[in-house]
Amino acid sequence: MSPQACPARGIALNPAASQVRIGILGAGKIGATHSSAYAKMPGVKVVGAWDADVQRAQKLAAQHGAQVFERRADLLRAVDVVDICLPTMFHRENVLAAAAAGKPVICEKPLARTVADCDAVIAACAKAKVPLLVGHVVRFFPEYSALRESILKGDIGEPAVVHMRRVVCAPGGPGAWYWDFEKSGGCVFDTAIHDLDWLLWTFGRPQQVYGVGLRDAAKLQDFGLLTLTWANGLIAHLESSWCHDSFSTSFEAAGSDGLIEFDTDDSVPLKVARIGGQGGGGKVIPESPLAKSPYQVELEHFLEVIGGRAKPVVTAEEAREAVALANACLDAVAARQVVVLPRAKRVQRAKTRKQVQLGAEHPA
Ligand SMILES: NC(=O)c1ccc[n+]([C@@H]2O[C@H](COP(=O)([O-])OP(=O)(O)OC[C@H]3O[C@@H](n4cnc5c(N)ncnc54)[C@H](O)[C@@H]3O)[C@@H](O)[C@H]2O)c1
Repeated sequence: MSPQACPARGIALNPAASQVRIGILGAGKIGATHSSAYAKMPGVKVVGAWDADVQRAQKLAAQHGAQVFERRADLLRAVDVVDICLPTMFHRENVLAAAAAGKPVICEKPLARTVADCDAVIAACAKAKVPLLVGHVVRFFPEYSALRESILKGDIGEPAVVHMRRVVCAPGGPGAWYWDFEKSGGCVFDTAIHDLDWLLWTFGRPQQVYGVGLRDAAKLQDFGLLTLTWANGLIAHLESSWCHDSFSTSFEAAGSDGLIEFDTDDSVPLKVARIGGQGGGGKVIPESPLAKSPYQVELEHFLEVIGGRAKPVVTAEEAREAVALANACLDAVAARQVVVLPRAKRVQRAKTRKQVQLGAEHPA
């Protein structure tokens, strides 16, 4: 992309340079995925990496011809865009630091661990007038955006029941931050949030949630089953697991006129499950059997938004909504009780044709 092409409403990305300079905070699994995606984009370069584990930063920097920064403040000065790939509990302080430095922020999902932290980072970025873009990458998986389009188009008539499943192996292995459930939120927060965001994007805020789960950090097991209901009668049930030996997702929606379904097990041409699973070495990053990774599509879009050439496919407020819903799910699982969600202040932007008709009586 050409920084000079940014219109006045976009952020001026280092107009003197020929490249957009990216600084990666967090050189772990997703930091590596983002960096590989940037490497495929013309006019974009990862120039800096910062990580508490200097060896990780060095490895990532060596792969991309970038500099290792020991001080975050130095990296913030040297880049045009900050990409936060740190554990969720550190998103808040790092978004605040990037905003204070006046740099556009890309932040991995979940935006933060709590709604209060989401509010703090949204307010800080608004005050600093810097974009805040959150990596809800499922919106950039063509299968998931096509499913949404198809439902909204009315292909299955009035949606009645949606089933979504997202299962992965134990992320990070023993001692990893993922297994401190307070910090990561476990699979019901960290992993199901992908599907919760898709549901919010497609159907708006549900009326209530219920869930059950099993978790044991010592055994690296975490599992949740969630049920969400909307005022118009729609039911969604979600399965979220960190107990499997490989990554897979599936989706099924039944409506008044038909059924639509998708399963990564049908579309991934080659699956390898190694003895001992894929745990221990980190988190399995979902892939799509497509030429361009959805992460690259997402990050290219974010840079277009930062440059003022596109409107965000996912807003920070929507990312906050996903955090609120995922926390409501955690509360429901912890209490084994239904959690009723507050009414949404405004009509959600996406509804099926029938739901639009029902909008007046839709309490969410
Ligand atoms: N969108 C997706 O598909 C996807 C996939 C995986 C992870 N994620 C999200 O990305 C974030 C990172 O996850 P990950 O799997 O890459 O984690 P990870 O554990 O693999 O990497 C985190 C990195 O941050 C570093 N770090 C930890 N604490 C730090 C601190 N205080 N200061 C500086 N560096 C610190 C660690 O050394 C590590 O290199 C999480 O929010 C996670 O939910 C998103």
